[in-house]
Amino acid sequence: TRPLKVALLGCGVVGSEVARIMTTHADDLAARIGAPVELAGVAVRRPDRVREGIDPALVTTDATALVKRGDIDVVVEVIGGIEPARTLITTAFEHGASVVSANKALLAQDGAALHAAAGANGKDLYYEAAVAGAIPLIRPLRESLAGDKVNRVLGIVNGTTNFILDAMDTTGAGYQEALDEATALGYAEADPTADVEGFDAAAKAAILAGIAFHTRVRLDDVYREGMTEVTAADFASAKEMGCTIKLLAICERAADGASVTARVHPAMIPLSHPLANVRGAYNAVFVESDAAGQLMFYGPGAGGSPTASAVLGDLVAVCRNRIGGATGPGESAYAALPVSPMGDV
Ligand code: HSE
Repeated sequence: TRPLKVALLGCGVVGSEVARIMTTHADDLAARIGAPVELAGVAVRRPDRVREGIDPALVTTDATALVKRGDIDVVVEVIGGIEPARTLITTAFEHGASVVSANKALLAQDGAALHAAAGANGKDLYYEAAVAGAIPLIRPLRESLAGDKVNRVLGIVNGTTNFILDAMDTTGAGYQEALDEATALGYAEADPTADVEGFDAAAKAAILAGIAFHTRVRLDDVYREGMTEVTAADFASAKEMGCTIKLLAICERAADGASVTARVHPAMIPLSHPLANVRGAYNAVFVESDAAGQLMFYGPGAGGSPTASAVLGDLVAVCRNRIGGATGPGESAYAALPVSPMGDV
């Protein structure tokens, strides 16, 4: 069987792990897919920063030329942000490739258009890594639970803020002190706005709500409140009530089934709830459905290797589809349900 050719867009923390695992697990991947997978090109902005172990002959700064080559089977997009990622992904579909992306911001903003572009070209768009790193969520919601009816998804989907809130809870520290610790340990970015103001979690909520309820939810549809105003006194009051405080992504189907809601805000949860025990930078997503009842997905929601694990799982699925001449679930899986920002709450 001919090798399947993979183009990697971006070679930072996640991309370099994807490339490394593709090499070290090459035999296993080939066995699972039924054909070898070959890294055919790596597009980066700064070639001098590409880590050791990647063949310099594969490295290019011309991502557009790479996705237009015409012989690429799968484009793996781990650049992040809206542009140039969006144009590169649509160009990849037009030139015969399927796409695996870890780009939550792009999927939350333009998921419908990207699905349409994939569908128009008969290609796949997979993005397990866009929500909660290594934790399998997209495929369980889209496939394993496709015959069930999901009514509610409650998620701790941002590790940085969970680390900060957990530190405040366990040490009595204030927000700034806990943020400083998260920054010193490398959890929080130099500019933590996207995490602490809830933008990152809101993008993930939009993606989860769309998939859980088989509808379209965009970032703009998600009510968002950050966690910068949570105080040590709030934790003390929560504790008196047998609760703790978490930044939750809450996606719900209205009781009449006619609309859905997605929102992100700090919420008190009883200490007896499984989400209360999610510590440090871990993520967890609690799902309630008609037939399955309650499910919880838990694990590392960020970092190079965990995120690469999700990317590689998608890569295997997309390669299998290509070999079998099939495509995975796409735009046709969706039926429009209205989204109301705050629902019935
Ligand atoms: N900043 C994100 C987090 C990274 O803290 O969870 C993963 O999207």
